[in-house]
Amino acid sequence: MWKKVIAVLIGLMIGYWYIDSFDPEKLKGKRVLITGASTGIGEHIAYHYASFGANIMITARRENALKDVISKCESLGKGNGKYHYVTADMKNMKSTKLVVQEAIKKLGGIDILVLNHILEVPLGEWLGTEKNFTMLDNIMEVNFKAYIHLTSHSLAELEKNKGSIIVVNSLAGKFGIPFVSAYSASKFALDGFFIALRQELKMRKCDISITSCILGLIENALSKLGDFGLKRVLSLVKSAQPSDAALAIVKGGAVRAREIYFPFITIPSFILRDWMPGAIDLMLSYVHTPDHYQ
Ligand SMILES: *[C@@H]1O[C@H](CO)[C@@H](O)[C@H](O)[C@H]1NC(C)=O
Repeated sequence: MWKKVIAVLIGLMIGYWYIDSFDPEKLKGKRVLITGASTGIGEHIAYHYASFGANIMITARRENALKDVISKCESLGKGNGKYHYVTADMKNMKSTKLVVQEAIKKLGGIDILVLNHILEVPLGEWLGTEKNFTMLDNIMEVNFKAYIHLTSHSLAELEKNKGSIIVVNSLAGKFGIPFVSAYSASKFALDGFFIALRQELKMRKCDISITSCILGLIENALSKLGDFGLKRVLSLVKSAQPSDAALAIVKGGAVRAREIYFPFITIPSFILRDWMPGAIDLMLSYVHTPDHYQ
């Protein structure tokens, strides 16, 4: 067993170093569509692309926030790129098509599609109530189906440009996390879909890269956990800044990596998950118990 573990570790490290073969020059003039770009990691993804000289179309629901991101991109880009925004709600599948059309119209095409938006839901126990089912529908529309619709509408364009799809995922897409069961399910669904699509594209010799980004402890996600016991435990571990996570995502996409893990510290958890799943259950049961369920 240890030989396999070591082989996996070495493989992951090689993958990690590979990301440092990143050449920022290659991003100059690229046309990038980013969803969920009004705040958090999405916002920082836009800033990094702007400073590397890319052209950008960003989308989210809030127009004022998007305008602020655009003006910051303008100052970072130093006149090198074009920056546009379009407001859209990813709960509406018609909007996904409009967003892609708008990006092609304004930028003249798409080279990189960054799927990053999420519907955030409050932590809670799954009880099968009417409210829970409504939340389930919303979360699957926004966090799962919208990603597939956006991808499908961009596919011909990306194929023409030998482009890239970047899927922002999280540990919740690799581990079932209590009190965010539906969210976790939507992230697992994304992982399954894009692993399968990557293989289909390869089989039909379509040169589009798909990079799945597995994010761990990020500062602003942590702050949303409220009074849950998890927060106290996680705060003991140094969490990463959204800007650093965003840079890892941009680099991973640029080198056409299959998956990236950020921060690097998330990697050992996969060895536990696959070899000692009981240990993960035990850890989660300790750290994730919300105070009012105790
Ligand atoms: C499910 O619904 C109940 C009652 O409306 C609520 O207390 C709980 O937080 C909900 N769970 C989730 C996961 O939304």
